[in-house]
Amino acid sequence: MTRSTMFYSLGLFLLPTLAVSTQQPFALKHGPVTSAVATNIDIKVPVKLGVMSACPDALVCEAVFDKVLEQVREIVDINLTYIAKLNSSEPDFGVTCMHGTNECAGNVQQLCTAKYADPIAWWRFVQCQNFEGRYRVGLPEVALNCASAAGIDWEGGGSGECAGVDGGGKGAEGVLLLQKNVEATEKLGVRKSCTVLINGRPVCVHDSEWKDCEAGHTVADFVQQIRKEYVLLNRDENA
Ligand SMILES: *[C@@H]1O[C@H](CO)[C@@H](O)[C@H](O)[C@H]1NC(C)=O
Ligand SMILES: *[C@@H]1O[C@H](CO)[C@@H](O)[C@H](O)[C@H]1NC(C)=O
Repeated sequence: MTRSTMFYSLGLFLLPTLAVSTQQPFALKHGPVTSAVATNIDIKVPVKLGVMSACPDALVCEAVFDKVLEQVREIVDINLTYIAKLNSSEPDFGVTCMHGTNECAGNVQQLCTAKYADPIAWWRFVQCQNFEGRYRVGLPEVALNCASAAGIDWEGGGSGECAGVDGGGKGAEGVLLLQKNVEATEKLGVRKSCTVLINGRPVCVHDSEWKDCEAGHTVADFVQQIRKEYVLLNRDENA
């Protein structure tokens, strides 16, 4: 090896290292996401999807948000809020669900796993139900299979006791959760499945097609809106 080739290969080795080390402080100082995570202040962006668990529009939204979460899960606090009608004449749920009682059961199963399983497992559970198709969302065997697929301990972890150990979705606690959730959805003024709310603001609706989506409705559009909101939320906190 001559002196010049040795110098050359040393240069090749050093270049990427230099590039990384000069980028690092810049990202920490100016990167909107990393900078806030690096400090203690980390307010996650509240995202709500107004849905009915067995509604085709809900399945569209939740599929899009599965991809959105792949990119921004760390900075998002996502929940589902259910659209239905409180109805004291309904014997099992006290609520009328547009797609039938199975949908009410599906809502309860999702609310109970949201409460008792970790957020990642809950989201997997919802995606698994959707993968079965909307006519099977809410069925007891689907709930039990999806709990197992998502790594949720149905019987021992609280979800089963809440929603009904048999997977029926009629557990007393779960039914109460559903009624309260439906009431909260009404208070929010959310009436269409699916409505996307970012930090409390409705930003987009999927009702057979995308509607009222001023800032767009692709995965990238939602990711961008969430990142922007995250910066605003955490900057306000600093002020
Ligand atoms: C979502 O639900 C959890 C648990 O019920 C709650 O702690 C959190 O504040 C909710 N987030 C939003 C955005 O509503
Ligand atoms: C309330 O529930 C009863 C019993 O299922 C049903 O017949 C009725 O249509 C429901 N009312 C509304 C407004 O959905």
